[in-house]
Amino acid sequence: MTALCTPDVVEWCDGSQAEWDRLTCQMVEKGTFIQLNPEKRPNSFLARSTPSDVARVEDRTFICSKRPDEAGPTNHWFDPAKMRVKLAEKFKGSMKGRTMYVIPFCMGPLDSPLAKIGVEISDSPYVVVNMRIMCHMGSHVLQRLEDEAGGITPKKRHGHGQFIPSLHSVGAPLEPGQSDTTWPCNDDKYIVHFPETREIMSYGSGYGGNALLGKKCLALRIASNIAREHQWMAEHMLIVGIHAPDGSKTYLTAAFPSACGKTNLAMLIPPKSYQDAGWKTSIVGDDIAWLWPHADGKLHAINPETGFFGVAPGTAYETNPIAMESMKGNTIFTNVALTDDGDIWWEGMTKDKPAHLIDWTGQEWTPDCGRTAAHANARFTAPAVQCPTIDPEWQNPDGVPIDGIIFGGRRPTTMPLVYQAFNWSHGVYVGATMGSEMTAAAAGTIGKVRRDPMAMLPFCGYNMGAYFGHWLEMRRYLKNLPRFFHVNWFRKDENGEFLWPGYGENMRVLEWIVKRCNGAAAGYETQIGWTPAFEDFNIEGLDHFTKETYDKAMAFDRAEWKTELVSQGELFIDLYDHLPKELIFQRELLAARLG
Ligand code: GTP
Ligand code: SPV
Ligand code: MN
Repeated sequence: MTALCTPDVVEWCDGSQAEWDRLTCQMVEKGTFIQLNPEKRPNSFLARSTPSDVARVEDRTFICSKRPDEAGPTNHWFDPAKMRVKLAEKFKGSMKGRTMYVIPFCMGPLDSPLAKIGVEISDSPYVVVNMRIMCHMGSHVLQRLEDEAGGITPKKRHGHGQFIPSLHSVGAPLEPGQSDTTWPCNDDKYIVHFPETREIMSYGSGYGGNALLGKKCLALRIASNIAREHQWMAEHMLIVGIHAPDGSKTYLTAAFPSACGKTNLAMLIPPKSYQDAGWKTSIVGDDIAWLWPHADGKLHAINPETGFFGVAPGTAYETNPIAMESMKGNTIFTNVALTDDGDIWWEGMTKDKPAHLIDWTGQEWTPDCGRTAAHANARFTAPAVQCPTIDPEWQNPDGVPIDGIIFGGRRPTTMPLVYQAFNWSHGVYVGATMGSEMTAAAAGTIGKVRRDPMAMLPFCGYNMGAYFGHWLEMRRYLKNLPRFFHVNWFRKDENGEFLWPGYGENMRVLEWIVKRCNGAAAGYETQIGWTPAFEDFNIEGLDHFTKETYDKAMAFDRAEWKTELVSQGELFIDLYDHLPKELIFQRELLAARLG
């Protein structure tokens, strides 16, 4: 790689505090980082990206399997041999004038049987410090790799002692004497996966999921391929524990598309009346879950990450105090605004807007200037250990047992607040047909409802039809099946206002879900699934929420569902080649129930 990328210097990252201090200092000197006021935000930094590099680039994300059919119609396929030629050109000399960092990292607790080791090679110090928060990184990971490497034969290439090679360059070589920008990147971007050889190559972007290769590239796109072969699942899901007044603890996972509320639900603080009664939540993860059939007959889950790369706008002490507490220090902020006293601000953080800020583009900002102060996909990178509600089991290599799986998206119409699927196959159907409004997490059209099966549309590293088949098959390996639910916090009334207050109040929906998982709550059978009756739904302490609003939030509209069914059909036609018959039958059954 040094011969290909020709960096000036190669540095092996050890993940130490000294390394962090050195790199953050260097970035402050170069202007890539702004050190925040240490009294307000100790050991924390602000980075501002180039305006063209602010989110994942789905149309530049490639799955290079041998045959196009293996990537499937929902992925961008490219011939692996041709892509290698193209990338060799791109990476040639791409690190000239820069330092190449070698970053050994591990996704998952080091001693977990599911843990996956990768080595990211990157020319971005921003990537190094973010990786140190987001996963196990440094000497101890390299040590495990070296310990295991003895006695490797070619046959065992993907077993112990092996790592997933992950090459990353911002694609901005420096000629001698050429001055650098504060956020080097390239307009030509490639986020490339070779599923068969388990390799990742990312070129041109320094932002989030494009550059922190352990996250979406390894823990979802490559891991989904490995999981499929070894009877486990790599999913875009939060993992949350619900502690009930009777002392029981129920773990749930939830798959919501990007910027649709996973972090918020994983960190939920129950309303006052619930707290008084003894309800609590704890978080295991906010973005990715690796699930496997445990010897105890249940689905178990681990979070392969050790940090949160969370959406900043909309996060506030009122909506998510746990996130606010988690980012009190040792946090990297990207594309948020800078306050006059050296702290950070974004839309929705406080009721009153500050009188003056420097916005995410570095310009003077006043409340009436007509621009937002933070980018809509501005993010904070915070260590999970700083989270006040982190679950004591969050690093348990054995994972936590899952009793319920929740699907959901941003749906202004059609989808009720909550319903439960009839069984595993119906649950897989509900997940497979998920839809959501697009958000700023990916470059593209914001607000358009698109199909996003299991919230994995941008992250499934193989054919989506085969992925549905894998979901259906997993049932065979489980004795105690989790229950499936669908939720929608985003339904709107005729004035465009959210019908449901959301955030902490989502606990009310979780209570019904937890009780259904434990066989302790009634449900009404409707055409689409089981739903709670108003009488069984706890609205104590929820002001201005009447039966009338509940009925609107829960309403089943036959015309809307007919449209929904047609739209689901379009996805099914695209995936027809590999679509399991069971899902076609589920759609037929739904159509029959709708009449
Ligand atoms: P990724 O990190 O992109 O995968 O997304 P995420 O699902 O973790 O997104 P996150 O929880 O950070 O969602 C952020 C956005 O959803 C913010 O704009 C929140 O204000 C909004 N949001 C979260 N929960 C709720 C809710 O219950 N109701 C409403 N109306 N908005 C919510
Ligand atoms: C998402 O877009 O789903 C994220 C953020 O979690 S990123 O890591 O940038 O993909
Ligand atoms: Mn995500």
